[in-house]
Formats: sequence, structure tokens, C-alpha cells
Amino acid sequence: MIETVELTKVFRSRGWTIEALKGVNFKAERNKITALVGPNGAGKTTLIKIISTLILPTGGRAYVDGMDVVSQAKEVRQKIGLVTVSDRLMYYRLTGLENLVFYGTLYNMGLREARERAKELLDTVGLGDWGDQPIMHYSTGMLRRLAIARALMHDPDVVLLDEPTLGIDTTSSRKVRQLVRRLAANRTIVLTSHLMKEIEELADSIFLIKSGQVIMNGTPAEIRSRAGHFAEALVPAEIVKDEMEKYVVKYENGRALIRGPEEKIATLTGNYAAVDPTLEDAYILLVGESGADFRPYQMKRGGAWAHERPF
Ligand SMILES: Nc1ncnc2c1ncn2[C@@H]1O[C@H](COP(=O)(O)OP(=O)(O)OP(=O)(O)O)[C@@H](O)[C@H]1O
Ligand SMILES: [Mg+2]
Repeated sequence: MIETVELTKVFRSRGWTIEALKGVNFKAERNKITALVGPNGAGKTTLIKIISTLILPTGGRAYVDGMDVVSQAKEVRQKIGLVTVSDRLMYYRLTGLENLVFYGTLYNMGLREARERAKELLDTVGLGDWGDQPIMHYSTGMLRRLAIARALMHDPDVVLLDEPTLGIDTTSSRKVRQLVRRLAANRTIVLTSHLMKEIEELADSIFLIKSGQVIMNGTPAEIRSRAGHFAEALVPAEIVKDEMEKYVVKYENGRALIRGPEEKIATLTGNYAAVDPTLEDAYILLVGESGADFRPYQMKRGGAWAHERPF
């Protein structure tokens, strides 16, 4: 289980101050998949990095199975497996198997034990035939699955997956989703994704976060129901303006297919049909405009890692 209490994170770099987390109370239970959902810059990765001991919080507390991520960082690391998008822990000239074995030895596994575990995990993630290939020959999807295998080497109770399906094809992402679902048995899983269909399919619990704050949490069904009554209509494209534009599902032949709160749609047309809001509908309504895409630290490549603690 993971729990954070009034967690804050302030980044300061050369005159910039960014409050990435502003008092986050987050909870992820065992045997469940808990999703962090929110716009770019909301603070999802920051939260995951704090939980995985990569960066220190500015204030508040975070616990993994009751252990403090700051004062008991070493114990926490034994408990968690982390899968991130920006991955610098792989050696491109080494094979998939060698990468996993190397990582296992960092966790004090014996060579034989690490090899056995690595082979088993390569099979689990569908890379059984690729273990002896240098990973520079792997596709993006294969690398992502290898990263999942690596995160599981020390059989962690808690697995944190930051956008595990980003940039990978349909078949690979389906495999990843199946894998994630299987992992949830007896583990605590935290997942981020921008794909609402994926969240809807996987998550038992969702935390909507925006500008460093949790704006809502609940089951997918609870979050959908908070969206209220929804309606769908086909209207002339030119009458959809300003804040209504976010409700447009698609434009076609000069018309807009629009889904939104019934009372809003009713201002455009009387000719609409009631529909059940999807998670994506609820997200658009509740989260609204995307967060500030303000990332001064990215101007300098690699700068994002400057604050991280050595693992
Ligand atoms: N190392 C850093 N130095 C300075 N600012 C940072 C650093 N890391 C993150 N930030 C800032 O903190 C905020 C939260 O970023 P974070 O990466 O946690 O967002 P996110 O929710 O993961 O977004 P995305 O969906 O784009 O991955 C952003 O404003 C970002 O610019
Ligand atoms: Mg992120």
C-alpha cells in the first residue's frame, strides 16, 4: 500500500520556482490498480518519483507499506519496481538477458538466481526468443516490456508504471495492459496514462490531478457519475465556440459531433440524445483545459535529472 499525506514538491532552478505538488493526499491499495490521471505538467511523474525515492519531497510524507520514503528509502527501494518513460538504466550493447541479470545483481541477487528469474520474466513479457539479442535491436514496445521485466526482477510488492504504453503500437500496448492486470494480483500497482480507454479498462481507483492537486478520486464509475447527465448532438460546426469546443468529439462535413453536459448541449440545439458519459467525457468536463505546458528545465536536455538522487 502507498499513502501520501499533504505531500508537496517545489522545484527551484535558476530563478524559476515551480510548485509541482501542492499538498497531495494519495492512496493506492494492495490488489488494486490505482491510476494517476491529469494533464501534462499536473505532477504525476513527480509524485511517482517521490514514492520511488528518486527525488525528495519538499514537505509532507509518503509511505510505502508503512515505510517512510525519506527516512527508510533503502527499504522502500527493495519494495518497489519502477517503469518510467525516460529510461537510462539500460545498456544498449548488452542483451535483454544481460540487462536483467545486471539489474538483479544490483539487488544482491546471485548470478544463477538472477539468470533464472530473468529468463522467466522474459517469457512473462513475451520476449522469450529475444533474450540473447543486444537491446539496441529492440523496438520501442519491446524495450518497454523489457523495462517492465526489469522492474519485476526483485519481485517487488509495489509496481509504479509511468505511461507504460506511451509510443508503442496497438498490439504491444494490449500485451502491456494484460501484463499489468496480471501483476495486480497481490501487488500494489500505480499507473499513469493519458489514454482514458486504457484507464477505464485497467483502473480500480482513479486520482484526477491537476496543477499539483488532487481534484477528485474514486472508482471509474464514481468519476463517470460525477459528470452528471450527458447529451450528444450533431450541430453546424460554426455555432460551436469558445468553451464548447472542448466537447467536440469530431468535425465532419461542416458539422460537429458534440458530447457534453445536457444543459450545455441544450444551449446549442433542442435535438440531442441522452448518453452515458465515458471516462473521457468526465475527464474533459472535470479537468477541462490542459495544464500549463511550462517546462523551463527541459530547455537544457537532461536537466530534469539534476534533482534526482543516485539510486
Ligand atoms: N526536475 C525538475 N525541475 C524543475 N521543474 C520540474 C522538474 N520536474 C518536473 N518539473 C515541473 O513540475 C511540474 C510537474 O511535472 P511532472 O513531470 O510531474 O508532470 P506530469 O503530470 O508527469 O506531466 P506529463 O503528463 O507531461 O508527464 C511541471 O510544471 C514541470 O515543469
Ligand atoms: Mg509525467
